[in-house]
Amino acid sequence: MQYKKLWAWLAVVFIGSFAVLLYFGGRIYQEKPPIPNQIVTDAGEVIYTKNDIQEGQNIWKRMGGQEVGSVWGHGAYVAPDWTADGLHRELVFILDKWAMEKYGTVYDKISEEQQLVLKFQLKKEIRTNTYDKAKDEIVVSATRAEAMNNVSDHYNKVFGDDPSLATYREQIALPANSIESLEDRRKIAAFFFWATWSTSTNREGMDITYTNNWPGEELIDNEPSHSLLIWSILSVILLLAAVGGMVWYYAALRGKENHEDEGVAPEKDPLLNIKSTPSMRATLKYFWVVAALIVVQVGLGIITAHYAVEGGSFYGIPIAEWFPYAVTRTWHQQLGIFWIATAWLATGLYIGPAISGYEPKYQRFGVNFLFVCLLIIVVGSMAGEWLAVKGYIGNLSHNFYFGHQGYEYIDLGRVWQIFLAVGLFLWFILIARAIWPAIQKKSEDRHMLGLFLIASVAIPIFYMPGLMWGQNTHMSIVSYWQWWVVHLWVEGFFEVFAAVVISFLFSRMGLIRTSTATSTVLFSTVIYLAGGIIGTFHHLYFAGTPEGVLAFGAVFSALEVVPLLLIGMEAYENLKLGRARVWVARYKWPIYFFVSVSFWNLLGAGIFGFLINPPIALYYMQGLNLTALHAHMALFGVYGMLGIGLLLFCLRGLTGTKPWKTKLLSFSFWALNIGLLTMGLLSLLPVGLLQTLASMEHGMWYARSTEFLHLGYMQKLIWMRVIGDTIFSVGVGGLVWFIIGLKTGKSYVTDTHSDTVHKNRQ
Ligand code: HEM
Ligand SMILES: [Fe+2]
Repeated sequence: MQYKKLWAWLAVVFIGSFAVLLYFGGRIYQEKPPIPNQIVTDAGEVIYTKNDIQEGQNIWKRMGGQEVGSVWGHGAYVAPDWTADGLHRELVFILDKWAMEKYGTVYDKISEEQQLVLKFQLKKEIRTNTYDKAKDEIVVSATRAEAMNNVSDHYNKVFGDDPSLATYREQIALPANSIESLEDRRKIAAFFFWATWSTSTNREGMDITYTNNWPGEELIDNEPSHSLLIWSILSVILLLAAVGGMVWYYAALRGKENHEDEGVAPEKDPLLNIKSTPSMRATLKYFWVVAALIVVQVGLGIITAHYAVEGGSFYGIPIAEWFPYAVTRTWHQQLGIFWIATAWLATGLYIGPAISGYEPKYQRFGVNFLFVCLLIIVVGSMAGEWLAVKGYIGNLSHNFYFGHQGYEYIDLGRVWQIFLAVGLFLWFILIARAIWPAIQKKSEDRHMLGLFLIASVAIPIFYMPGLMWGQNTHMSIVSYWQWWVVHLWVEGFFEVFAAVVISFLFSRMGLIRTSTATSTVLFSTVIYLAGGIIGTFHHLYFAGTPEGVLAFGAVFSALEVVPLLLIGMEAYENLKLGRARVWVARYKWPIYFFVSVSFWNLLGAGIFGFLINPPIALYYMQGLNLTALHAHMALFGVYGMLGIGLLLFCLRGLTGTKPWKTKLLSFSFWALNIGLLTMGLLSLLPVGLLQTLASMEHGMWYARSTEFLHLGYMQKLIWMRVIGDTIFSVGVGGLVWFIIGLKTGKSYVTDTHSDTVHKNRQ
């Protein structure tokens, strides 16, 4: 039957995609840029050792890693991309030195012909791979060694408290003495040099660098390779073809189904028959915590964004001393993931017994126990990160286990990570045991329940790759596993989870037939995963990976966009369902949030994701505000809105039959959506586009430099974020006030206002 075929397709996609993902994983292990035993001058003098580079990497992580500037384009946007920055400084130093020796003046002052000669010489020196495999060392010229020392000296000043760089530090929101010891500063420079070397030296026997010529740097002709262009074009063509195919398929499906769902909605709300069990009621506190975390997360976001304009303080209050950029950005990101996850976890725990009508033994204890674990993880991991960035964790191993891992979205120390993984599995067990009796009944919705369980277990399982690296693991390998987690979560299983949960709720409400919901969701799962799993590679185009990663990544991630482009149909259907019967108005606001999930899936994930997705685009745009644009519009837009929708749905069930006063909710809904859009359109998008032009014209280093970002008009555009951020924050305030009102009683319609009751009874 129909389901069987779809399940078979799902298995094929799953196995095929993971085979490709693992195959290239193996290639990355083999072809990553080597970390040499030592880097020496041609006279044999040792400049850096492997130990320097690896410890440097750990010192960088302890400082906040990807939360302070970026390396290979991954990380934060206010401080420089250390690779593009270090490379440019090194190249300029060498050119100036040669120009001085030959022509008695700096490079900028010599004639164009003279510049060309020196540039040619520079390109040859830098791009030639001087890694000696037998001796396991990289050999550099005396001049390059001098340049390396010069760059190292610069970073020594940046991470110390050299007064000549005080303004610069303020501009990049870096406190003075962010690395205390001189020796540690030398080591971080060693790590930056190695990362830079990988971006500028050709792979053995090829004429592209280890990072596929990223970052753009015209001084050594680091520019997009041909294959980059070809795969970009192919990815767009394939996307068009796939959209065409999907439209055809939908049209055929429509003809067959002939609106069979119309008129299925029952006269009365079937969910009203559900009785809250003790464990369901125990989820209520999760939702209070979600509300509290949203407020803190958004507050931290405002502070982090503000640091881009005023690097050391918040409207004059010197908070950076206590909570520097690295801390606020880490917490902002981590809390975003934590509150969204908490809302989902709570929803799973709430609907488990609701579906089966069965309360397993000790379920309430399990729900409460998990709650305490989650609180410990949130508070403990954040404290560890703070201690690390503030320099209170000296030992690098302690930092790895308890402090700051420095890899964005997975910043928490390893011990917290393991604790979280255990917690996620515990969550799965709790919902699985509640749902299991319903699956055993062999009822019609067992396929849907099976999918729900698969999407749920995928969340803990795909957190596990985050444990695949150790303290000193090579950055290409860490990137590979890091994006397994982040990408496979957000572009794979979260999409599946979202589709399953929303359809499931609608089918439980009797608004769509279970059979339609099941086949639609199974089908969209196959489609999401067909692009989504291999699509992981779009994060790895420039992370020291072979070209195949780029080709597969470009093509498959383009396919991810196909279902998102057609999601308008689903949004429209959902909107229609919201009006199917008078009683459905009770769920109007959760449903509206579900509709906005579709909207942001189209705009934030589909359009803004694809904007940066073709390799030729990401080559110029990686690490610029367009990535930030996409990340905000997609992560908050899709999963944040889903979290809020689910929260409201569960709270509706948990707060009895009394009607809600929904004016504040309606206000909050619009403020959140309009605020998010304004933040993007008024600030992140124009800043990102101007940065892209700067990156194309002068190179990546310039697009992220303070010279450029502190131009008057750029600062104004960056500042404009305040408008959208404010509207958005007011929306958050409204939502939280409404939730508090559910506790105090203020959010319910009282009979004394009977004239407004009719209008607001929802
Ligand atoms: C709801 C779904 C999605 C979410 C939540 C999401 C979220 C994110 C996040 C958080 C980042 C990292 C930003 C940073 O480095 O700070 C990112 C990067 C990126 N996303 Fe998405 N994304 C989604 C869907 C998509 C889709 C559909 C595409 C395009 C096919 C896409 C393409 C990209 C690309 C190319 C990058 C940059 C790669 C890199 O520098 O690592 N994303 N996304
Ligand atoms: Fe991705």
